[in-house]
Amino acid sequence: MSFQHLLSFLSVISLVAAAPRAASDVTATEWTTDSKWTPYNVDEGYRGACGRFIYPSEFGVAISVEDYQPGLCNRIVSLKSGEKHAFSQILDVCANCAKGDLNITERLFKYFNPDLTAAPLVGDWELANN
Ligand SMILES: *[C@@H]1O[C@H](CO)[C@@H](O)[C@H](O)[C@H]1NC(C)=O
Repeated sequence: MSFQHLLSFLSVISLVAAAPRAASDVTATEWTTDSKWTPYNVDEGYRGACGRFIYPSEFGVAISVEDYQPGLCNRIVSLKSGEKHAFSQILDVCANCAKGDLNITERLFKYFNPDLTAAPLVGDWELANN
């Protein structure tokens, strides 16, 4: 096989390899935009609806009753607000959140804005591909 043939052979392979990834990107969940985030005080710790303890030192997210399903527990979410980006984990359900809105741990809130009185923050989030 000539070098030129090898190159075109390899590019066909990479196209084939790329195809399933592209297909799963299309079916991946979309960003929820203009989501309102309130800070969530877990005190010394709090057992979320997903079953495990949420520590005050950690990033955690509670999603609305409407968005919640047990299969979303522990899924990683990607969050963006202003210039900042973070990953967090779905650990709880938020009883008073409107669909698409989040209750986020104070630790996570302060990462985006150290001033808790700035609540609610407005941001975008999506399920990460995990
Ligand atoms: C966030 O969670 C706390 C603690 O469970 C709760 O008191 C508060 O009402 C929640 N915020 C919203 C907007 O639901």
